[in-house]
Amino acid sequence: MASLDLVSIQKSFGPVKILHDVSISLIDGEFLVLVGPSGCGKSTLMNIIAGLEEPSGGLLKLDGRDITQVAPAARDISMVFQSYALYPNMTVAQNIQFPLEMRKVDKSVRAERVQSVAKLLQIEHLLERKPRQLSGGQRQRVAIGRALAREPKLYLFDEPLSNLDAQLRLDMRTEIKKLHQRLKSTIVYVTHDQIEAMTLATRIAVMKSGVVQQLGTPHEVYNQPANIFVAGFMGSPRMNLAKAQVVEQGGVMALEFQNGSAQKVTLPLAEQFNYLKRYAGQEVIAGIRPETINLPTSHLEHNDLQRGFTAMIEVTEPTGADTLALLNFGGYEFTATLGPDVILGVGKELQFTVDITKLVCFDVKSETLIS
Ligand SMILES: Nc1ncnc2c1ncn2[C@@H]1O[C@H](COP(=O)(O)OP(=O)(O)OP(=O)(O)O)[C@@H](O)[C@H]1O
Ligand SMILES: [Mg+2]
Repeated sequence: MASLDLVSIQKSFGPVKILHDVSISLIDGEFLVLVGPSGCGKSTLMNIIAGLEEPSGGLLKLDGRDITQVAPAARDISMVFQSYALYPNMTVAQNIQFPLEMRKVDKSVRAERVQSVAKLLQIEHLLERKPRQLSGGQRQRVAIGRALAREPKLYLFDEPLSNLDAQLRLDMRTEIKKLHQRLKSTIVYVTHDQIEAMTLATRIAVMKSGVVQQLGTPHEVYNQPANIFVAGFMGSPRMNLAKAQVVEQGGVMALEFQNGSAQKVTLPLAEQFNYLKRYAGQEVIAGIRPETINLPTSHLEHNDLQRGFTAMIEVTEPTGADTLALLNFGGYEFTATLGPDVILGVGKELQFTVDITKLVCFDVKSETLIS
């Protein structure tokens, strides 16, 4: 268990700046998830924390101690790499216990740890095999097991579940969450999987081109995205984003959506949006999550923060759990996540509702959240 401070971490490869002033402080027991598009610098940052890459600038502190110049082996950090490497000549059991052997942990304790992580990762039957006799997913579990067998100050996981099939991935996600709850260890975890990020993290750092765009709890990042990039990146299907005119209507602010010659959709807002007054007469970018658009039900109609509108249905996609509908919303294409078993006629106009409490607005120029 440990606190971790990244202070203005920078990294360049030759003339190319990969990380720009990354500053993140984690308290003991935090589970930080790093997300961002491919190539944004996530693995580079992980390698810097592990000591495998040297930062071009900035400091790293583990439990308050400057470890920027400390050798990787002396950092007391366990890492599972995106491209994990197992020792090919060792069996699975030997691979898992090797880091413990290096640290002169007692043989009986080592054997016990191997058994317990093997059980956790469902690889007990593979312990005597060599890595070449394993599938990709099995190798990945061994690599995770090797990291878990030690009890370091800090765990680093770089997309540890990416080679697993869907079911095992879900099981492992739950196991990692349980493990974190039990050990209260400090973890930095990279994933491409939105749900993994939302469910595991105590805080999420969303990165783009080596710059942290937002650092916040999953709830903050999802509900109050700092900018349009974060809004579009977190959540699947993506948040609907569309330009709207801010007007004042009967004492409350309202948004008018009209793209081209199509029909105008007006959404009267509520008191909580009075901060939009300074944008009256101007355009903003409104963000509406697909799941906040629904079919009207008598229950929702009585809620005064639901607004009705009419839209044309362009496409419907049943996913099993939900039905995704592509709607023409004031000339924009909006996705709505409707319930399962919803059957809608394509090309028809229908009444929908939107929960305005979840609506957010961004400045057109700076693309940052207006609040
Ligand atoms: N040793 C290196 N030399 C030169 N460029 C590098 C090196 N390592 C990484 N890069 C570059 O740095 C950028 C960030 O790479 P990094 O591996 O950190 O991305 P990532 O966010 O982990 O991406 P992914 O999601 O695809 O794993 C990329 O443009 C990559 O090509
Ligand atoms: Mg990577």
